[in-house]
Amino acid sequence: MRSIGGYLELQLSKGEEFYPSLLKLNTGRNAFEYILRVRRYQLVHVPYYTCEVMLEPLRRLGISFQYYTIDEHMDPVLDFEVGPTECLLYTNYFGLKQETVIRLSTQFKNLIIDNSQAFFSPPQEGVDTFYSCRKFFGVPDGAYLQMDSPIRLKLEKDVSFERFSHLIKSIDLGIESGYEDFINNNVQLSNNPVRRMSALSQKILSGIDYKTCRYRRNSNFMYLHDFLEAYNDYAFDASVVNGPMIYPLLSSSPNLRDKLLDKQIYVASYWPNVLEWTTKMMYEHYLTSHLIALPIDHRYTHADMKRILNILKTTL
Ligand SMILES: Cc1ncc(COP(=O)(O)O)c(C=O)c1O
Repeated sequence: MRSIGGYLELQLSKGEEFYPSLLKLNTGRNAFEYILRVRRYQLVHVPYYTCEVMLEPLRRLGISFQYYTIDEHMDPVLDFEVGPTECLLYTNYFGLKQETVIRLSTQFKNLIIDNSQAFFSPPQEGVDTFYSCRKFFGVPDGAYLQMDSPIRLKLEKDVSFERFSHLIKSIDLGIESGYEDFINNNVQLSNNPVRRMSALSQKILSGIDYKTCRYRRNSNFMYLHDFLEAYNDYAFDASVVNGPMIYPLLSSSPNLRDKLLDKQIYVASYWPNVLEWTTKMMYEHYLTSHLIALPIDHRYTHADMKRILNILKTTL
């Protein structure tokens, strides 16, 4: 029975989730595990260019994997076969690779799309696809999974209030003050069992104005691209941007990251583990050390983008 009265709770807007009909799970890596447990693949082709936490489920389930390389368009170099008990895992890099996702989905039956960096890219019909919500929104965790299968795993619901501190600390004390908690809360996500999405994450995700978030991402992205295209060694089709995660600037110009950091512009590194997995001769190694992931999310306007450009203009 629902109680009436008592103290007032944190009040969040009521709305609709972006993917109301997909499965709701606790993390992206665990959505990947869910797929592996249902599909029972014996070998997974994993890109060298991905986050190491994607190996957690493979190790946990004792499934073999083989790395594959990507080309300068960040498309897979398909010089291998995907056998009937194997599958291809592909990341929709920065939310800019939907065309490749569509092409792969016509080529491969056993395909898993990692849309952790592509929240706004819709899943292709019949393709196992997962999303990680914390890469796009202020939630401690949460993942969506599309998978057509009569098999459903029976799962407990996750509880995420203990991984929430960075999200409230930053409101009171600023983003830098919450950083240590952010790191610690990330660590808590490792080796966490597959569970259903927590009520806390789901409630936050139900109150987000997705239309505005997507609009701001597209607008900020294009503002940067108008200037940076001429300097960017990563060439991509900007006519199809759909709420991308960051603006990827690939440049051999040294110290870009440090110059931005000096002015309190923080850029994430995707992904430090790739430097260990690859040799210096490999494209993935170069990408990891030279790709600058410029923030373009809903918190920012063109004035912020201009600040970023002013710093880059003195360096590029
Ligand atoms: C490309 C990619 N896929 C999947 C994940 C895992 O998502 P989650 O942290 O929700 O498990 C990450 C990072 O954590 C990632 O960068």
